[in-house]
Amino acid sequence: MDKLAINGGKPVRDTPIDYGKQYIDEDDIAKVAEILRSPLITTGPENAKLEGKLCKLTGAKYAVTVSSGTAALHIACRAAGIEKDDEVITTPMTFAASANCALYCGAKPVFADINPETYNISPESIREKITPCTKAVVAVDYTGQAVELDEIKEICSENNLTLIEDAAHAIGTKYKGKPVGSIADMTCFSFHPVKTVTAGEGGAVLTNSKELYDKLLLFRSHAITRDPSQMVNRAPYLLYYEQIDLGYNYRMTDFQAALLSSQLDKLPLFSSRRKEIVKMYDEAFSKIPEVTVQKEIPESDTTRHIYILRFNLKMLKASRREIFDALWAENIHCNVHYIPVYYHPYYQSLGYVKGLCPNAESLYEEIITLPLYYSMTDYDVIDVIAAVRKVIEFYKM
Ligand SMILES: Cc1ncc(COP(=O)(O)O)c(C=O)c1O
Repeated sequence: MDKLAINGGKPVRDTPIDYGKQYIDEDDIAKVAEILRSPLITTGPENAKLEGKLCKLTGAKYAVTVSSGTAALHIACRAAGIEKDDEVITTPMTFAASANCALYCGAKPVFADINPETYNISPESIREKITPCTKAVVAVDYTGQAVELDEIKEICSENNLTLIEDAAHAIGTKYKGKPVGSIADMTCFSFHPVKTVTAGEGGAVLTNSKELYDKLLLFRSHAITRDPSQMVNRAPYLLYYEQIDLGYNYRMTDFQAALLSSQLDKLPLFSSRRKEIVKMYDEAFSKIPEVTVQKEIPESDTTRHIYILRFNLKMLKASRREIFDALWAENIHCNVHYIPVYYHPYYQSLGYVKGLCPNAESLYEEIITLPLYYSMTDYDVIDVIAAVRKVIEFYKM
């Protein structure tokens, strides 16, 4: 066997490969340029078109585009009426924004543990964490795989909780044949560049409820209204408006909307290529006892955003850090998703302690995110598999 690159050997590939990246083509650029040459560049007709497209794609009745996935989660929590001292249940195996949205409202994030095989929030653990203060569940479709929506919806309706699906990873995913976006009370998407489709930065909230939709629109734009039926004073003159709550400027520009709209046209292509890559990885890695692949529930037809490989450290003479560094030395620029949210110093300063969610904590110790993006070639995928095999051969007991 070759020496590991980290020990002065030849790396599996000469050029580095990143864990994720956007795919922008000339069509995307032309659509953005068209809007930049038009008189209206902020939130205008292109956003309205995009909202229509998102509804058509997901089957949701209403869509509200916003400036980021974080903004989407924040206004979803506001629309759900989350306030000071309320509790919001979420997973620790996520990006901090899934929990920060509760803090923004003065509420307390409560962490439920994950299923150790699918890595998604466990419905049983949600049940255990419900108290009289619980108002909502933020269920994250981690890596793009849909959470157990039927079970979680049932728990929410039994306990009068709002279900906010954090589908930042999951555009294109279906649950029991229905696209994610039309199932929870509100579904939040992120369109950051490493996601399957991008607006540069951007997000959206989808819902079937007119009442929630009206609130989302208000919170997106300062909670200022020109609709007389929403006003308090209803002054009759033209151009009169009222601020009726505390809102934000979370609007998306029309040139970002044009980019996302053009990207969405390629979603079927992006989705099927991601599925092909995941299949190649799963086939290769399921034959290696020193690693475990993420289990997929049959209800989820997943467009995977990130590929997580679990290293069974008991069978290896290396720490996760050493494996991570060895892969980087092979020019595989892997990553780790995620540090459990409550490990972050800010959460520790709020009084969260380690040990809350044992399944999430032990998963975190052993995972590495491998490259996954639309424009990866089969040769790239083969290189990643070869690098993982090489590192495992070197470190196996
Ligand atoms: C699960 C999850 N939720 C929310 C967000 C926040 O999205 P954004 O970066 O668009 O604000 C992210 C971003 O990566 C995410 O991964």
